[in-house]
Amino acid sequence: MAHSPFVFVAVGALISYFLYTRITLYLARQRMIKENGCQPCATVFNKDPFFGIDVIRMMVRNSKKHIVLQENQKRFETHGKTYWTRAVTLPIIATCEPENVKTILSLKFKDYSFGNRKTAFGPLLGHGIFNADGERWANSRHMLRPNFTRDQVADIDAFERHVKLMLKHIPRDGSTVDLQELFFRLTIDTATEFLFMHSTNSLRMVGQEDEHNEDVIFGKAFNYAQEDITTRLRFGIFDRFRKNERGEEAIQICHRYIDRFVDDALKFRRELDEEKRTGTSKDDKYYFIQEVAKQTTDKKRIRDELINILLAGRDTTASLLSNMYFQFSKKPEIYAKLREEVASLDGRAPTYEELRNLKYLKYCLNESLRTHPVVPGNSRFAIRDTVLPLGGGPDGQRPLFVPKGTMVGYSPYSMHRRKDLYGSDADEYKPERWESLRPNWEYLPFNGGPRICLGQQYALTEASYVTVRLVQEFSQIESRDPGPWEEGLTLTCCSLNGVKVGLTPA
Ligand code: HEM
Repeated sequence: MAHSPFVFVAVGALISYFLYTRITLYLARQRMIKENGCQPCATVFNKDPFFGIDVIRMMVRNSKKHIVLQENQKRFETHGKTYWTRAVTLPIIATCEPENVKTILSLKFKDYSFGNRKTAFGPLLGHGIFNADGERWANSRHMLRPNFTRDQVADIDAFERHVKLMLKHIPRDGSTVDLQELFFRLTIDTATEFLFMHSTNSLRMVGQEDEHNEDVIFGKAFNYAQEDITTRLRFGIFDRFRKNERGEEAIQICHRYIDRFVDDALKFRRELDEEKRTGTSKDDKYYFIQEVAKQTTDKKRIRDELINILLAGRDTTASLLSNMYFQFSKKPEIYAKLREEVASLDGRAPTYEELRNLKYLKYCLNESLRTHPVVPGNSRFAIRDTVLPLGGGPDGQRPLFVPKGTMVGYSPYSMHRRKDLYGSDADEYKPERWESLRPNWEYLPFNGGPRICLGQQYALTEASYVTVRLVQEFSQIESRDPGPWEEGLTLTCCSLNGVKVGLTPA
């Protein structure tokens, strides 16, 4: 059968178009490489050049042994501060260079997005701040930012109420308690009160949990939905083939639970509008959910934002407290020094200003976030061809070309433990080093640039308050865990074996 000349013309045009786009892309990239003085990265860390199967196997092995972070650190020490690798079809640049991290998060912020994170987080988080890019993210940030000013995050009375409940569960006869479990309960209770005007009150239910209580059901569902995000991330593009009824049900439970509070906030907004119209005044105490409802009446939008902040803020603060108390239990002399500083309060609960003036406490928190950052690894996805300032050339000191579609993974954990930046004792927990330490981008527990953590002050205020109150109540801490700290790595990082300690009442 003779082919119509049109078929030949069409095929010819397609091939020409394909060649043209390839050649122009190649030439544009060569120009960019030349103009920026880029050189190829000296280290490629994968033996299987097509799918990086060896790298995936290694990650799975390390994850099972709970040594992901220390092995990442070793890899940077052996292969250089920036290297290439790949996972299935995804090319990856891994880096622990502060200059590169600054470039990704700040200087060339617009060259990157979140990549596949959105697919994994989407079912639970929708389009809220933590899971949005571009205009949508800017809009969320603009809307939420005013809710994180000093007055809002310094609700010391609320912290005190919850700490009091926590103290009830700490044995006063020196028997062993897992502080980590209590810290996780405390932060979900304070965060839900801060966000929804309704606390899960999980500390009231220790040891007597009613399976039918909706706060209990929500707490469990939220934990499960969060763990499931880690599984989604691990499965990547194959997640769609996974049967996951329990995960989907957990998400439904979380959404239904929060919707109730959103309905209340929208009712409040309608009443407020009515009062404005009629000129009657209203109690103007600040409540997070009501402030958001003043700015939008979109029910799903409000729920998305709230659940995003709950996810961003709950495990992180609990993990910071847990990691720090693990160190205290192994180095009781640090705890003793902290007690000396806190003695200046004469046993009184501190005010916000007093908390801020406790220097050694600040050093302890900073140091915990340095040696055990609760977000120890992160990544961004190049949405256009771009350049990193370091990583190219035999010594990694030349600029490196980053083709569109590359994932750039960065590791605060490895960066925070670089001996050339923090000294030969970089792996050790030593709060005193903060007397003279003034780090810049080499210290990044809360991220940097336009997407820097919004809850930093809230987290530090809560962690400081809880620490002071515990230090006031107990004169000594003793570790009941013979082993060293091991990573408990999910979306955030806490201690795998909890924080088992014995405490002596003051
Ligand atoms: C020790 C505690 C905390 C640490 C270490 C921490 C760390 C971080 C990090 C590393 C990010 C950047 C994530 C990324 O862009 O990939 C982030 C973002 C964020 N955090 Fe925190 N966080 C903490 C506590 C909190 C708390 C208590 C809240 C709220 C009450 C909060 C709210 C947020 C929000 C809303 C974002 C998203 C900001 C944006 O994308 O514009 N965080 N946090």
